[in-house]
Amino acid sequence: MTELIRIVRFAVGSADPDGPGEHANGHGGFPSARGLDRYFELSVRCRGELGSQSGYIVNIKVIDDVVRSGAAAVIARACRDRPDAEPGELMPEILETIRRACPAEVSSVTLRLSPYYCVEMEARDRSRVLVRQRFEFAASHRLHVDHLSDEENLLLFGKCNNPRGHGHNYIVEPCVECALDEDSRQPFTLLDLERLTIACVVEPFDHRNLNLEVDDFGPGGVNPTVENIARVCYERLAKPIGNLGKGARLRSVTVWESERTAATYPA
Ligand code: NI
Repeated sequence: MTELIRIVRFAVGSADPDGPGEHANGHGGFPSARGLDRYFELSVRCRGELGSQSGYIVNIKVIDDVVRSGAAAVIARACRDRPDAEPGELMPEILETIRRACPAEVSSVTLRLSPYYCVEMEARDRSRVLVRQRFEFAASHRLHVDHLSDEENLLLFGKCNNPRGHGHNYIVEPCVECALDEDSRQPFTLLDLERLTIACVVEPFDHRNLNLEVDDFGPGGVNPTVENIARVCYERLAKPIGNLGKGARLRSVTVWESERTAATYPA
């Protein structure tokens, strides 16, 4: 079994679906934006065995066509008729439109509304969507274990053991499972996620020394590695999200310490 991911970019609004035909700029997005159109990316994940001659799971042109003709129309209609809908509310119809036209098994579709915000529906459970939004905070930390000697700490943590600490611009991305009700409405909104993440993680951590100013990492707390920061973020957020009573559950939190280092909890 092999998995294929295809990302299709397009604009919605006054964009002309018949556009420039074979000269379309699929990289920048087609239909291309006119004026102040809205831009989207839809990523389709499918799996299957390869065709013995083609070596394809599915011809990507089939995916491009159904996204541009079918899924984009669902989004355009919603932009016009109910612009305050949560994007997750469109996902059952988008998934079904793509699933019907795609000869391979579609495992999930993800609608990206910005470089930082996306909504995914997995084919195995269409009663919910996964909402992900990125946040940032700047903080300093020092990696140090009290019961080890200075030499042992230096050997284990190197420059990260600097007694005066050092800083990172951390990126935090919670992934929340949001239930859809019988009318495919999504009670838990992006605004709920933003309010809780800012209150539980960003405000307490931003422009702080994690070792000295945040109890989770202070004396008696854990070492502020990116792995532990991801776990602490998860533990701080999981209950408030569940307690909101809007059918949402925190699935995981990913924290990037740099472009090259990230941890997800739970994996
Ligand atoms: Ni560091």
